[in-house]
This record gives sequence, C-alpha cells and structure tokens, in this order.
Amino acid sequence: MFGLVMRTPPFELQTRPNDMPSIQRKEGWEISENAVTPEEVFMNRRQLIKAGLGIAGAGVVGSLAWNHLNAENFVYDVSRYKKINFIKNEDFKVKRAMTEEAVAGNYNNFYEFSEQKGQVIGLSRNMKTRPWKIEVSGLVNKPLTLDIDDILKQFPQEERIYRFRCVEAWSMVVPWIGFKLSDLIKKVEPKAEAKYVRFLTFKDPDMAPNQKSDRYPWPYYEGLTIEEANNELTLLATGIYGHEMPPQHGAPIRVIVPWKYGFKSIKSIVKIEFTDKQPKTFWSDLIPNEYDFWSNVNPTVPHPRWSQASERLLGKLTGGTIDYTRVPTLMYNGYEAQVAHLYKKT
Ligand code: MTE
Repeated sequence: MFGLVMRTPPFELQTRPNDMPSIQRKEGWEISENAVTPEEVFMNRRQLIKAGLGIAGAGVVGSLAWNHLNAENFVYDVSRYKKINFIKNEDFKVKRAMTEEAVAGNYNNFYEFSEQKGQVIGLSRNMKTRPWKIEVSGLVNKPLTLDIDDILKQFPQEERIYRFRCVEAWSMVVPWIGFKLSDLIKKVEPKAEAKYVRFLTFKDPDMAPNQKSDRYPWPYYEGLTIEEANNELTLLATGIYGHEMPPQHGAPIRVIVPWKYGFKSIKSIVKIEFTDKQPKTFWSDLIPNEYDFWSNVNPTVPHPRWSQASERLLGKLTGGTIDYTRVPTLMYNGYEAQVAHLYKKT
C-alpha cells in the first residue's frame, strides 16, 4: 500500500498487481504503474482452500495478475492453523460473495514483514505468537495485562462476516472471529478523561524483517475515539475462516474496524492505551495529506491519487490470477446505520 518506495533491492521491484493503486509516495524516480510487468504466478492449486462462493453481483469481472518472487508463498496450508471455539453471529452477514480464504491469506498488507503483499505469508510464517501479552493501560481505573490464551478463555468468541475495504480500492468479504473491544473496555473502567484509544503493534526486527528499515516509525500505531472503540462493530479479532488468526492476517490478535479503511485495523497488537489526546497514527504521520485519523470509507471523497467510488472485490484464485468483481463502494463501507451517528455534528 502506502509504502514509501524503496530505492534499494529487493524492494525496488514493485510486486503488487500492476493495475492497482498503491499507497506509495510518488517520487520522480518511481517506475510508473503501467511499466511494471506482471510475472507468472506459480502455485499448488490442490492445496488451496476452496472457501469461496464464487463471484456474485453486478459489475465488471476481471482478474489481477500477481507479481511474485517466491512460488512457495502461494501454498496456503490451512492445516497449520488451530481451530478455535466460536459461535456464528448471524446478525452480521453480507450480501456479497465471500473472498476465497487462499486469496485473503496471500494478499496481505503487513509492512513489518514486507511491502509486497504476496511475500507476507512466507516471511511471517514462523512468527512467534506465544507467549503473547497485551497491556491495557493509560487513563483507566483497572489496568490489565492479559495473555492471549487467557483472552481466548475469558471472552467468548463469535464469527462475523464483514466487508473489509482497503484504501487502495480493493476489498474482501471475510468471516472474522473475535469479540467486541467494548467487552474488554468495560473490564478496565476508563476514567472520564479518557477520550481516545491508542493501539500498538509489536516491535521485533529479528522476527519481522522490514522493521529493520528505518524508513518507517516502528512499531505500527493506530487510534480510535473511545466511542468508535466502543461501537458494536469494533472487534478484537483472534481468528478468521474458522481457525486462529494466521500470522499474515495479524496473529494472534488484531483490531477490526469495518467502516474505516483497512489501515485502521491494526494487526498483532501488544498495547491498548487510553488517553485524553487524539493519538498520532502511523500512516498519517508518514503521508499526512493522504491519510488522516478518521479515514472512514467514503465513496464521494477521492484519494488524492485515485477514485474511491468503486472497489475490486477479491474473489477466487484461478491459475495465476485473483478474480475480482468491481462493485460500488458504500458509504461507511455499508455500515452507515451502525456508525453515522458517531460523526453527526451537533
Ligand atoms: N497492521 C500492522 N501492524 N501493519 C500493517 O502493515 N496494514 C494495514 C492493516 N493493519 C498493517 C496493519 C492495512 S494497509 C490493511 S489493508 C490491513 O491491515 C490488511 O489486512 P489483511 O492483510 O488481513 O487483509
């Protein structure tokens, strides 16, 4: 996405699909998107999980070629991920076809590991997710430090199917497993002065190679207002597609805020801090004129470099391509009824 363009190998090669917008800062020496040649994609089709329901709905159907450097990364082996207990929450469904698991799990933005979506799965494969502690602190009466396994025991997990819209104009429909962030917030009893919640990802450059790059202000950080954090849609997600969260999706626990652009949904969190000041955020610190604190999905406000009126809804893997359907982008990503009140000016 977003990334700063790297001058030095291996990051000179742009390996994102060549017709996708990217959140990269445009610089004079950058290869134009049209000049990037897609490479052939290799994968073991039999090992892919066929969770997709196919492409549905109106819109242009197309496919995105994947540039790729490492064929191995395309093997999506679901047996690596442990099943977890959850109930299906039928209140959260989407009238769009679900994205195939192997597509969602091979097309990831996780800059700590790589700036190349198809490389994240391979580079994060051996991420160490146990032990994993999350500190919940700041302006609260009862600060807590929780272990991920205690979290899984203490908070009943539910599955919700959500739309997920990246600011780069691609989207997915995926079944997250997790629990409401508001359930955790209740436990720590925020003080009256707590107006915002700040989230922090781990920092471990030995585990996450791109954290060795000093072009980014690691660790990744994000923030919400306390009302946004308490909204019924905001999840702490511990799994996806019926099993624990794979590393590339932000294991072992991440935030999901489905009415905001995907970069707000911070992965692999280690800290949740309550504050009285609006927290700074990773991408708005890096590129302030393109990404702001709010970043609610809004089809009427174009990104400075591309339209946000529609999106490529990722579907299935076919040969070396991801099938997508072009669908209109919905206000607040289709969650207007649940969240519009948060932004009404009084
Ligand atoms: N969280 C961290 N820690 N690091 C990241 O690079 N990328 C964000 C978000 N959370 C990111 C992150 C972006 S840009 C998107 S679109 C989503 O994660 C992608 O989530 P997914 O890979 O599970 O689809």
